[in-house]
Amino acid sequence: MESDCWEVGSEFHDPECELEHDNERVTWPGELVYFLASGRLPVLLLKDIIGDRVLHYPDFFCWDVIEYWQRQGIRTRPYRVYFSNGKINVDYSSVPKRGVVLAVNYFGTDDGKEWMDYKSQHDILLIEDHSHSPVSQWACTSIADYAFSSLRKTLPISEGGAFWSPNGSIMPAAPTVHFEPTHKKKAMALKQRYLKGEPIAKNNFLALFAEGEQILAEGEPLLASSHSYNRVKKGFPIAYIDSRRKNLDVLCDNLNERCHEYIELLDFSSVHSPFGAVFKCLDSSLRTELRAYLIANNVYCAIHWPQKEGCVTRESKVLSECLITVPIDQRYTKTDMCIVAQLINRFFENERI
Ligand SMILES: Cc1ncc(COP(=O)(O)O)c(C=O)c1O
Repeated sequence: MESDCWEVGSEFHDPECELEHDNERVTWPGELVYFLASGRLPVLLLKDIIGDRVLHYPDFFCWDVIEYWQRQGIRTRPYRVYFSNGKINVDYSSVPKRGVVLAVNYFGTDDGKEWMDYKSQHDILLIEDHSHSPVSQWACTSIADYAFSSLRKTLPISEGGAFWSPNGSIMPAAPTVHFEPTHKKKAMALKQRYLKGEPIAKNNFLALFAEGEQILAEGEPLLASSHSYNRVKKGFPIAYIDSRRKNLDVLCDNLNERCHEYIELLDFSSVHSPFGAVFKCLDSSLRTELRAYLIANNVYCAIHWPQKEGCVTRESKVLSECLITVPIDQRYTKTDMCIVAQLINRFFENERI
């Protein structure tokens, strides 16, 4: 994608219905899959099954989602996770041996083996979040009670989440009403036209995205719209998985040695479908400067996840301030990745003293 409006990252634009074509896909794991409006809804649907038990979640997670569950009356408590050896690890001594536990495949880097062992050794109701790699080997061979993925994190759809039971547990009742994706669909179509060079003010689609997000984040349990459902029902396109892996490799192969003194790529060496090029910066001020520099050059990197002071441990807060996720998904070509790598190189050569 090269036009005067070149940019990388931020919300998905509408990819001219490529998801509606017949392309090779990995089918969704699970016999019965609910396609819901969002990735936060499955836990809400499980509210009766959770009952008065506490949902134990990793201390490093999307705080908005935790707050949403709390507002819906779900009792929550964190367990510890920590960064070492290029990945986010679970401190299993802080995970309860009974009760309800949420496990997360961070950025697609986890093979899930430790969680599978933990589940077989302890009497827990295990719920897994596969949003960052919805059809990973772990997702497809899971033995968890329940699992979900927020699909709009990896696929160009206005909204959508998959929810299933890997071990065949009884599913709660599904919602019956579909989400109405007007705002986000319009925003995606406008962004597509903007990227093609039409004179469209960015604020037009940014405002629509924000409005749509608000409706989605706070709404009642709904099914995905038929528009999104039709795009995802056949599974996850293999071409998308392949381009993520290739793009990550191109980006990293084009980074200069000097970068590695300041930023550490998480360990994606054996990951088929990386979520992003996730780097841990030496410190938070470097992350802030690098992110601002990339934004000034039209590369929009997400933060996973901004954490609230006092709501997480200092360890998680510091980690969240050092991570940066550079987009490498199917929207981008090898040329795009080379440009991003050059920008990062230039930042460390010229901008950073
Ligand atoms: C890892 C992860 N899981 C689940 C969710 C919730 O997904 P949704 O925003 O579709 O409700 C998020 C949201 O940011 C997320 O980052």
